[in-house]
Amino acid sequence: MFEHVEPFRIKMVEPLRATTREEREQYIREAGYNPFLLRSEQVMIDLLTDSGTGSMSDLQWARLLVGDESYAGSRSFYEFQEAVQDILGFPYVVPTHQGRGAENLLFTVMVREGQYVVNNMHFDTTKAHVLHKRGRPVNLAIEEAYDATLDHPFKGNMDLERLDEFLSERGEETALVMVTVTCNSGGGQPVSLANIRGISEICAKYGKPFFIDACRFAENAYFIKQRERGYEDWEIRDIVREMMSYADGCTMSAKKDGLANIGGWVAVRDQELYGKLTEWAVLFEGFPTYGGLAGRDMAAIAQGVREVVREEYLAYRIGQVSRFGRRLKEEGVPIIEPVGGHAVYVDAKRFLPHIPQDQFPAFALSVYLYTEVGARGVEIGTVLAGRNPETGDHDYPKLEMLRLAVPRRTYTDAQLDLVVSGLKSLYERREELKGLRFTYEPPVLRHFTARFEILS
Ligand code: F0G
Repeated sequence: MFEHVEPFRIKMVEPLRATTREEREQYIREAGYNPFLLRSEQVMIDLLTDSGTGSMSDLQWARLLVGDESYAGSRSFYEFQEAVQDILGFPYVVPTHQGRGAENLLFTVMVREGQYVVNNMHFDTTKAHVLHKRGRPVNLAIEEAYDATLDHPFKGNMDLERLDEFLSERGEETALVMVTVTCNSGGGQPVSLANIRGISEICAKYGKPFFIDACRFAENAYFIKQRERGYEDWEIRDIVREMMSYADGCTMSAKKDGLANIGGWVAVRDQELYGKLTEWAVLFEGFPTYGGLAGRDMAAIAQGVREVVREEYLAYRIGQVSRFGRRLKEEGVPIIEPVGGHAVYVDAKRFLPHIPQDQFPAFALSVYLYTEVGARGVEIGTVLAGRNPETGDHDYPKLEMLRLAVPRRTYTDAQLDLVVSGLKSLYERREELKGLRFTYEPPVLRHFTARFEILS
């Protein structure tokens, strides 16, 4: 009868304030029709991100109290390092304040001007950090990843043929290859172990370093257990170790599968690379035994990475997101399928076919959803994609999506059902909905601070 049952009970609650439609209309107008610029207290159900917004467990809160605040050699650092070594299997770990801090460190050391960085799909901060080092980000996900309705168990996979071809032609100018698990920009879709193994073999053939963007490593491992033949009986921990065993290192945002509210790391196998990373860590993040974090944060992460690989947690987690997607589909709302690990992505091209891409249909939908039920999602579409530096035109992505990211252990199914009902009623009157136009367009990472008006 139950697809998933919470493997916890709720021990502390944060009251939410209900708002009226009139209030929401005012708030979103004041925010320049950009949900990023709302105050979180103006939002009832915040599905903007699953990053740092989840609930920590009682044991994580307990670790916050005993965390050791020390600049150098903190006990909490060693606890954190040991947990990462134990769960992921990399010997060297540099803590960072969050995932993008890890990207900055790794790319500062590894990417030179004009060099390519290959990924299945770069997340926006990853792409921006490559560009900041004057590198060239290239996405080589399989073609199926761009087909919004095609059912495929591992839509996050890299296209191995194209990777081989790319490295045979441009290997000399390629700094490193990365794979993002799960593939956030492609809908939170998993990457198979066979694919990870394949990438590592091709990287070995061309002598290229291979890194994993590991933000959602445990969710990816759960999908492997569910969907990849041969791993049905494996423990999640063993699948995680197997995934990581093929890589030279990983970058991580502990705000996702670290089950923490802040933090990240770069973990590597090579001692010399570790040495270089720690030199830059001092400059960017702080001493290599705290990396921009308080000791208590590292202690909470240490506990979080041990909890996140528990199968009953992942069954609930993936089950809740999957149910959310199914409910939307039952109401006729077009979504990206299959449903990914951390979020449901509404397919705005099918939801609002009458709004052209240069009027930002997915961004507009995020505005309407807020006004309708006070829920906040995030556009993963043209506004996020930014402009093509060569042509100056919008860098139109193939998919135009509204991401509804589900924070971990935070909202109930009833709250998610409210979002379903909001989208259902918007879908029923979709023809009335209009697109947006910039009134202010910032030069970089424009989605965070842009302001808009609704077209009449
Ligand atoms: N890589 C991926 C795949 C991510 O999803 C994120 C963050 C990062 C790197 C950067 O990590 O935020 O800790 O600096 N994604 C969040 C999101 C922000 O909402 O998807 P960070």
